[in-house]
Amino acid sequence: MDSAKVMQKFFGEKLPIKMDLLIAGAILIDVGKLLEYVLEDGKAVVGKTGKLLRHPFTGVGLAMMFDIPDEVCHMIATHSKEGDLGKRTVEGIIVHHADFISYEPFKADTLRL
Ligand SMILES: [Fe+2]
Repeated sequence: MDSAKVMQKFFGEKLPIKMDLLIAGAILIDVGKLLEYVLEDGKAVVGKTGKLLRHPFTGVGLAMMFDIPDEVCHMIATHSKEGDLGKRTVEGIIVHHADFISYEPFKADTLRL
């Protein structure tokens, strides 16, 4: 939300951002993980569904079952690497980058100076 607010302040009416869609998308992008993982011996592991359908796909399936707007389903579908070959909405771009900066810096291969 802070990124979007800064962008709104900087770009103004040149770049409209629908905050309600952005927030809904940010909350729901990983909803498909509920179907991606199963418990085995008390540990969460990727199950059969997750191996065949990563959470962007199952997330869209779940969201559509509950009549979530297409704009939000789009963010679920494109928030991860699966969305790299398509186009993203402005809200989808913001959520995509916010998602990646929340975990990529913690990867072992991150350059640390
Ligand atoms: Fe995700």
